[in-house]
Amino acid sequence: MLREKIDSLLAQVEALQAEQAVEAEELRIRFLGKKGSITQLFDEFKTVPPEQKRELGQLINDLKNRATEKINTIKEQAGEAEQKQSALDSTLPGDALPLGAQHPISITRSEIIQIFSRLGYSVLDGPEVEDDWHVFGALNFAPEHPARDMQDTFFITSGDNPVILRTHTSSVQVRAMERMKPPIRILCPGRVFRNEAISARAHCIFHQVEGLYVDENVSFADLKQSILLFAQEMFGQGAQIRLRPSYFPFTEPSAEVDVSCNICKGKGCNICKGTGWLEIMGAGMVDPNVLEACGIDSAKYTGFAFGMGVERIAMLKWQIKDLRLYFENDVRFLRQFEAV
Ligand code: DAH
Repeated sequence: MLREKIDSLLAQVEALQAEQAVEAEELRIRFLGKKGSITQLFDEFKTVPPEQKRELGQLINDLKNRATEKINTIKEQAGEAEQKQSALDSTLPGDALPLGAQHPISITRSEIIQIFSRLGYSVLDGPEVEDDWHVFGALNFAPEHPARDMQDTFFITSGDNPVILRTHTSSVQVRAMERMKPPIRILCPGRVFRNEAISARAHCIFHQVEGLYVDENVSFADLKQSILLFAQEMFGQGAQIRLRPSYFPFTEPSAEVDVSCNICKGKGCNICKGTGWLEIMGAGMVDPNVLEACGIDSAKYTGFAFGMGVERIAMLKWQIKDLRLYFENDVRFLRQFEAV
């Protein structure tokens, strides 16, 4: 009887399997615990006739050893497997974090600021919601100037000095001159608003950077040299500029500035429409009326100003053909600036 039990338990022990360490521990309790089936054999062994004791005792001991050995192996193997699953290998390279991209407008604005900050310009912010005086009046716009028209300007209130959304960042140069004493050398980046139908070439919101330099003896030659330096830093050392006479109410003389086409290097292509030149900004000597309106002595001081569209500079830099791409946040467009 006892012999059969031993044989049957030995067969069971040999067939044991477990995948988890907890299961292996349960097996140990079932066979080798205080009330385990092998442990119980030792009680039964007490009743075995003396002449069989030697042989059966040996068998029971062998069974117990075999079971201990088998269960320990199972435990070890399960433990190892579990550890492998959960262990962190700190020598493996980490998962790469996906990098975001800066918006092309932000990249371009920073670049413009960097170039001019090397010339001593500091950045000045101003309000987007403005009044007529800062956007038009102080800048020498005639009362009936068409830019003041409802068709161009977003009005918030009406009246003598209506509250409006600024149509250009030139309003910030007014605020600067009202507050600061020359020498003034500032750069005013910001959003501007115009009541335009949205298309590939126009948008009702866009970005400008305005520059202003007021001091004694500031000349048109200074303006030209500063813009040439900017163009070469922005578009490459070979870039050339040309100034075309133009008109702005707040500058006299005024000019529109072209840069040599960076695609065809001036030979003429479809980007520059065969002219070899691309318009990048408006500029001029600050009109004495503007200096006076802002409380600056126009007999003592002169100044120059310039204003450029950030979208336009970015378009020329990367040959972006449609303004709307800047505002749609299509990641297929934005991802192209990850490496910039
Ligand atoms: N404010 C002008 C615009 O929005 C740009 C401009 C032209 C700014 C000439 C200037 C300037 O400072 O001198 O179109």
